[in-house]
Amino acid sequence: MSKNKILIAGNWKMNKTTAEARSLVSEIVAGAGSQTKVDVAVCPPFTALESAAASLKGSSVMLGAQNVYVKDSGAYTGEISASMLKEVGCSCVILGHSERRQYFGESDAFINEKTKVAQAAGLLPIVCVGETLAEREAGKMLEVVSTQTTGALAGVTDAANLVIAYEPVWAIGTGKTATPEMAQEVHAAIRALLVKQFGEAGNKVRILYGGSMNPANASELLDQADIDGGLIGGAALKSASFLELVAIASSKGGCCCCCGK
Ligand code: 13P
Repeated sequence: MSKNKILIAGNWKMNKTTAEARSLVSEIVAGAGSQTKVDVAVCPPFTALESAAASLKGSSVMLGAQNVYVKDSGAYTGEISASMLKEVGCSCVILGHSERRQYFGESDAFINEKTKVAQAAGLLPIVCVGETLAEREAGKMLEVVSTQTTGALAGVTDAANLVIAYEPVWAIGTGKTATPEMAQEVHAAIRALLVKQFGEAGNKVRILYGGSMNPANASELLDQADIDGGLIGGAALKSASFLELVAIASSKGGCCCCCGK
């Protein structure tokens, strides 16, 4: 089976001012803004979305947010709606990141609600799942990831507008990466769940790896059968490393030999 088109997405987390975002995005656009071999997305903090959108205009790089609320408007102090994200130029949104699960108590049910709201608004959800070190050491990683995945996707029927990111918590920001084999084992389990839920369409859902992915380890990870891209933290904060990741992904070949994409 041919691989899905690779997606390299940068999760900037709570980094970059508006001005910094403008210059980072300009560098990314200069280096990768017209290539179409792989999909590229940047996800700045809310405050930098507008300046990033302006710098991305006319490029192939997608803009994403790092969270969304489930209501469209109203008395929800501190929250941002899907229509607000669409208006500012977002086409995707990261949901259920482990940092949101850990620090803000997000549950699978809440992430499920957000996934449906994002899809209904025309935003591509990038739904994050992943086990902690204790869960892995207890041999529970597949159980945890399976519960998170099926929980986040309960009642979801639109496989065409969906991305999953497997991010083992112990590999995030630690410099420790899952080996390609460790990552593939979990990606294959997620793939099986997707096929169970969506049938053949489940094979087309991209599953990204996240957790200290960098130019030194990306190639081997991207060679795995069920790794369709990366959700990048630290290495997305500098254009040189992010563009290097895009180049490595591009060298893996496009989505097919006949369309050249
Ligand atoms: P790092 O690449 O910094 O480990 O972060 C990964 C991540 O959390 C992306 O969402």
